Amino acid sequence: MAQICVIGGNRYFGRHLIHLLQEAGNRVTVINRGSAPPPPGTDHVVADREDEKALTRALGGRAFDAVVDQVCYTPVHAAVARRAFTGRTARYVMTSTMEVYDPAAFPAPPPPAAVPVSEDAVDPASYPVRWDLPWRSSEALTRLLGEATSYAEGKRQAEAVFSHDPAFPFVSVRSAHVLGGGARDFTERLRHYVERVTVGLPVAVHRDPARTSFIHHEEIAALLHWAATRAVFTGPVNAASHGALTVTDLCEVIATTTASPAPAYRIVPGGEPASPFSFDRPYAMSNARATALGFPLTKVTDWLPQAVAETIADLLPER
Ligand SMILES: NC(=O)c1ccc[n+]([C@@H]2O[C@H](COP(=O)([O-])OP(=O)(O)OC[C@H]3O[C@@H](n4cnc5c(N)ncnc54)[C@H](OP(=O)(O)O)[C@@H]3O)[C@@H](O)[C@H]2O)c1
Repeated sequence: MAQICVIGGNRYFGRHLIHLLQEAGNRVTVINRGSAPPPPGTDHVVADREDEKALTRALGGRAFDAVVDQVCYTPVHAAVARRAFTGRTARYVMTSTMEVYDPAAFPAPPPPAAVPVSEDAVDPASYPVRWDLPWRSSEALTRLLGEATSYAEGKRQAEAVFSHDPAFPFVSVRSAHVLGGGARDFTERLRHYVERVTVGLPVAVHRDPARTSFIHHEEIAALLHWAATRAVFTGPVNAASHGALTVTDLCEVIATTTASPAPAYRIVPGGEPASPFSFDRPYAMSNARATALGFPLTKVTDWLPQAVAETIADLLPER
């Protein structure tokens, strides 16, 4: 029986990850601040992962075969975890994001990457860490960099902290936009589209929206489970179902699934924000590395109609 630690685990696909780990016979320790009861059968450690003394004290003498870090957002988070888990884990998997590739979310314009983007476009081993940035204040960081760059830069630099002089074998799973699960998807981005398309309200999109990557919530949980317990590779790996879609492709699937009229759109000029999955620059991910390493990925169009149906059933039951 392997000992696996999940940091987070009580909001969205982290819950399914714990279920998969338990189902496979692992002993699971969950670390969070205790806002919700832990799943039955887990060992619950209550600590704020930003507070190094509290985290180290709460961990006591525990040691793990793998840690999956679901809520690592800054290099400070990574540095605390790197110290707290040195000598305590044989493997460390950080849930990262495709936003690390967003050309609009770098502090300075990056050299253009080929699309679909492969992992080497952002190399965590050589990416610089800026300790002078106000990582402990999300308000100050957002004022300085804006929301999107703060998130992307926090993830890039967190990956970098684990990858410069690694303290343990380290994997960053760069997740596509996660969809599905109805009410479990606290981001409500799919709900935004379903609500508008099903009543004929216009959706704000760019003139020629770029394709972007998606993954099902159970699929990202399964990929994290695999990366933590069944694989031996290290470094970044992109996690995306096959078949990137534009925001208008997404709306068409919703219209077809719900037997709604053709979607209506409001065109937003390039450079201005539109609805959540409308992008005026391409950075859809290649999933070739995960596939070559042996993780079988699904097609977005195989599960999207069901995800739309769950959104209607859970979030718009009056329809
Ligand atoms: N949703 C997407 O489309 C998407 C796409 C790409 C990447 N991601 C990544 O997915 C990850 C989140 O996945 P998830 O929503 O399924 O998370 P999760 O595993 O369910 O964990 C979320 C929980 O972590 C706990 N937490 C937050 N801050 C903490 C802290 N300082 N110390 C200890 N515990 C803390 C919170 O519980 P308590 O309040 O009890 O502490 C929170 O409810 C993030 O890394 C995000 O960047 C998401």
